[in-house]
Amino acid sequence: MADARDESGGHSGGGHPGEHPAPHHAVFHRSYEGDAAAPWDIGKPQPVMEDAVDRGWIHGRVLDVGCGTGENALYFAARGMSVLGVDVVPAAIDKARAKAEERGVAVVFFVGDLTASGPVALSEEKFDTVTDVGFFHSLSDEHRAVWVRRLTGLLPPGGSYVMLCFSDRVPGAFGPRRISKAELREAFKPETGFSELTVDSARLESNAGPGWVDAWLVRAVRELTG
Ligand SMILES: C[S@@+](CC[C@H](N)C(=O)[O-])C[C@H]1O[C@@H](n2cnc3c(N)ncnc32)[C@H](O)[C@@H]1O
Repeated sequence: MADARDESGGHSGGGHPGEHPAPHHAVFHRSYEGDAAAPWDIGKPQPVMEDAVDRGWIHGRVLDVGCGTGENALYFAARGMSVLGVDVVPAAIDKARAKAEERGVAVVFFVGDLTASGPVALSEEKFDTVTDVGFFHSLSDEHRAVWVRRLTGLLPPGGSYVMLCFSDRVPGAFGPRRISKAELREAFKPETGFSELTVDSARLESNAGPGWVDAWLVRAVRELTG
């Protein structure tokens, strides 16, 4: 690709967790131009998200954030969930809608910026599960805080956020921001409204390079009294 993204699916940056610059949305807009798949767009759901469904972590009314062309959202719907997918890039949403139609799977896909100061078109809806593959690790520190605040409003007490992100064990300086366990503990500390945090080692598959990178599968559960 002609921009700063590397072939493992992210964006170039510095060398330490938290130091990678967050990508501008233009990077994502370019990624969905034309027919070539973006590095993260593997044409199937992430296997660890399939496992997360089997473990009962993803269920009920689901919102998939930064849904891209929709593979994960479509999988959740095929497993019987009621799913909405949102992405800031209209071309990604067009592709996701086309897949939904082709496959006869009902998912509502819509364009929205989850870190904009104005409301995203989600009204007062709550979701049993908010899912995220590759969105959290694309956020700046500022937008991460905005997103976690917004997320708490999207989840009812006991609702959960299930997220897959690059880990700080990914070598090299290319790709999205690396995320450490300490950053995750800070982002979802009890004061933010989450009472339970699970961080498991996982693989995030990519259609480039060796085919996967070290990742964290994160589950943060909204406190019951929130
Ligand atoms: C690494 S991609 C992952 C896409 C998809 N989840 C997948 O696994 O194929 C991250 C996605 O987040 C979207 N995104 C980034 N910032 C966003 C924002 N502020 N609001 C909504 N979507 C955003 C990008 O457009 C991109 O599709």
